[in-house]
Amino acid sequence: MLSRSGLDAQLRMALRKPAMERTPDDLSLIYDELMHVKALQYLSTMVKKELSYAFVLESSFKKGTVLFSEGEEGISWYIILKGSVNVVVHGKGVVCQLNEGDDFGKLALVNNALRTATIETSQDICHFLKIGKKDFNRILKDVETNTVRLKEHRKDVLVLEKINIPNMFGEDNSQTHIPQIQKYSVMAGTPEKMVEYLLETRMDNSNTNNFDDHFLNDFLIAFPIFMTTEALCRELLSNYNRTNCFIIGQDETRNITAEHKMAIKRRVVQMTLRWCYLAGNLFLENQCIFRFIEELMDYLETDELFNEFNLLKTAMRTLKERYPTDDLIDGKIFAPVRHSPHRRMGLANITKAIRDYKSIRGIDQNIFRVFCADHTYTTVALPYNATAQTIINAAEERVLLGDDCILCEVKSSGERVPFKPNEICVTTGLSVNGRLFIAPREHLDSLTPTPEQEGPSTSNLTFLESVGSKELAYYITQYDYELFNAVNIHEYIFRIFGKESHKQITANLDLLLRRFNEVQLWVETQILLTQHLNKRVYLLKKFIKLAAHCKEYNNWYSFFAVVMALNSVAVSRLSQTWEKLPSKFRKIYEEFEGILEPSRNHRVYRLLAGKMKPPILPFMPLLIKDMTFTNVGNKTQFDDLVNFEKMRMISSTIRLIQYCRSEPFKAEPPTQVKIAQEITIFVRNFNVIDNERILNQFSHRLEPKKN
Ligand code: CMP
Repeated sequence: MLSRSGLDAQLRMALRKPAMERTPDDLSLIYDELMHVKALQYLSTMVKKELSYAFVLESSFKKGTVLFSEGEEGISWYIILKGSVNVVVHGKGVVCQLNEGDDFGKLALVNNALRTATIETSQDICHFLKIGKKDFNRILKDVETNTVRLKEHRKDVLVLEKINIPNMFGEDNSQTHIPQIQKYSVMAGTPEKMVEYLLETRMDNSNTNNFDDHFLNDFLIAFPIFMTTEALCRELLSNYNRTNCFIIGQDETRNITAEHKMAIKRRVVQMTLRWCYLAGNLFLENQCIFRFIEELMDYLETDELFNEFNLLKTAMRTLKERYPTDDLIDGKIFAPVRHSPHRRMGLANITKAIRDYKSIRGIDQNIFRVFCADHTYTTVALPYNATAQTIINAAEERVLLGDDCILCEVKSSGERVPFKPNEICVTTGLSVNGRLFIAPREHLDSLTPTPEQEGPSTSNLTFLESVGSKELAYYITQYDYELFNAVNIHEYIFRIFGKESHKQITANLDLLLRRFNEVQLWVETQILLTQHLNKRVYLLKKFIKLAAHCKEYNNWYSFFAVVMALNSVAVSRLSQTWEKLPSKFRKIYEEFEGILEPSRNHRVYRLLAGKMKPPILPFMPLLIKDMTFTNVGNKTQFDDLVNFEKMRMISSTIRLIQYCRSEPFKAEPPTQVKIAQEITIFVRNFNVIDNERILNQFSHRLEPKKN
């Protein structure tokens, strides 16, 4: 029978009894009710039976009753049986209304964080099922399906899914007293809500028992895909000030909110430092970030958060020491530190990580040649972030070709690839022997490669005979690591998602990727320019040893380049040469070929590389392919929400790259080195033939086809 309050009287009585006093009839009545509750629909029968003991009834009979306030500790979870509530966020007001069957108050419990919103009733008569934190953890911790949707103004703003984080001993907690930590992982959300959620749940290490679920790192890696730098700065500042909007009521509330307020301010600084650490030189180049840091430092001074003020300042100064430049705003950020910085854990790491970088920046001068149809050229000096149009404007004045010129790459094969006016990084993106040409649009077809683009006509055999393959591998690897470490992690994002739309350069990544082709083509060139059969056999042995040493240095990048060169059509068809290769070398080579095997998504290589300790130089084309596939195969947005699962997938590849270079390459140079400088210069300036057709011609000339 329904009472005046709209709830079955028997059910009401059953729910008001203490758990121990509930009869089987009471429990089945409650259980039947739970069967119809939307928020519990994915729970198993067993869990619902347990819940029948634990739920109690809470009722409210006056509209506007506050059930709990934002910033308070969370002690229970609620389901609305009758009535409705408003979710009120400080500074925003009512962000949504929840109705019968909806639940609320789970976040603070699972994240061990404070309430993210105030809940007040929006009708006079409301009934809730309520469960305390202890029972909630005991019963619901093993629930498989658990998705939470946060709404604002009737729209989803954050979709979360529960994750179980192993306790710090990595044990299954069922046998121990150490609680397993439960958190929500973001599946999708608006950028603004994600920043807010990060600050609430991911910034204090104590909350996670030092377990990093990567949300913060992944967000800072992937944010350029879905949010501008300006927007991130704006969100961080508005969160810093969000707590200023607190409507302070009684003294008691004021104490709690003031603490919460300070905690958020500190978290904004912590998040900014993590961003600074991740973005490296890009952080320093951006004027918008500068204005943000200046504003943040002003606030920190006003709030007397001197420790945070100095942490930020020290991080910025360290960046500037690493990348000295004149054209940045100075002032407060780089003035001497006034209060001695209180060194907290994390700052040392940040400083070290920044020091390890050595990258080309967008504003750095790039000096290069632009050729005309008659092979004369003009030398242009422009920053790396100059667009093709800027290069045309600069070159046009000098070459006097009129004002409808086009910029294009002419490859050694004669192929012409015109650039779009807004393209950037045109010089670093050229093929190995490609050159930049300018011509009136209608004369594009008359452009031909310069003779120098053909590459060498003799091999480096004499030099190669004077150096050991281990020395060669060492200096090649040293250079490879330099290129690899110089790449800013955001360059991977810009490359996959469009550097033009982000107006960001990918020069370091371009050079790294070009290096692969250089090494591969250099090995092919050396063998195919060696006339004498025995010398070619000598080179085969040398390059097999070179690949073996690269592998010893964890340099999969050049290992793949060398082995792929030996496996290329032009080299692998030299049967007379291969026949003379001693069986010992043949066996090693066959083993290496096995590592190249692309089946099951390069499983052989992935398993081998997965067992290595850093520093590791991975086979980059595979990682780029992984990210490209993730991009093509997954939507970036669902309605207005960012698909954060996709961001996580992209970031996991970048995290792998971060892991690979988490240690510097510090192997000792091989003992016999007498001509270190000479080899260093040699390996950084490979002279190659990059035209496959010419390489094949050489191959056929050396060993004509037998009929
Ligand atoms: P909790 O942080 O424990 O307390 C406030 C609750 O409001 C929160 O858990 C969510 O269950 C609920 N809520 C629903 N929508 C929102 C929202 N947009 N922002 C914050 N909290 C929300």
